[in-house]
Amino acid sequence: MEIIIKATAVEAQHEAARIIAAQVRGKAASVLGLATGSTPIGVYSHLAELHQKEHLDFAQVTTFNLDEYVGLPEGHPQSYREFMRQHLFSRVNIPAHRIHFPDGLAADIPAHCAGYETAIRQAGGIDLQLLGIGSDGHIGFNEPSSSLASRTRIKTLTPRTVKDNARFFGSVEQVPRHVITMGVGTIMDARACLLLAIGESKAEAVAGMAEGPITADLPASALQMHPVCKLVVDEAAATRLRRADYYRWVYDNKPSWQRT
Ligand code: PGA
Repeated sequence: MEIIIKATAVEAQHEAARIIAAQVRGKAASVLGLATGSTPIGVYSHLAELHQKEHLDFAQVTTFNLDEYVGLPEGHPQSYREFMRQHLFSRVNIPAHRIHFPDGLAADIPAHCAGYETAIRQAGGIDLQLLGIGSDGHIGFNEPSSSLASRTRIKTLTPRTVKDNARFFGSVEQVPRHVITMGVGTIMDARACLLLAIGESKAEAVAGMAEGPITADLPASALQMHPVCKLVVDEAAATRLRRADYYRWVYDNKPSWQRT
């Protein structure tokens, strides 16, 4: 895993955006796996800026979002489809027919989840998967105890995640208890993964993910087994990393041809 420590949240978000932009410039028809939450907002703003100012072209890009709440009515401001429309899709030129989400209103959820996996495969697989991390170590909504081989399915949120996400809904009671999420196995199939973590509240999960044992108790730790995974953090999220100085040294001494 390549661990990149940036001084500030904005620098970390810009670094993540640069990695995504390099992917799209290198392969116009890239398949991107996308994430929601407060962490990637700055990434999407920067991508929109690169689209406007540097003609970063998304015309051939396909996207699959990681997850969606179950049961929120269409157009609900906290649905992830609405989040992505607001922060990215209304600002860049990804064709609507190539944008994919789990459907939180599907009548037959298992059949829909199997179809989502098929759609990812039919698109050629995900080239680059953007991820956040929960304070409990989840990726997507793969909460602790998720199988590290899991595929897209329904999950029940932990009380901690419900509480973490209540800030978007106004109260704990309004947060849905269920979600559809890509599995850890689905995420591990992506050709490359990029996990972005910002802030002190993520420091413990980040350290466990990068330096702790691989365990379903901290699903993000599965990424230690991914052959092409970058972890981008700000200083606050890096405070619990034991080998932070070594990661800085590696980054500072990176050959120029490896830089994005
Ligand atoms: P956050 O969520 O970016 O809102 O902290 C991250 C996540 O739960 O994956």
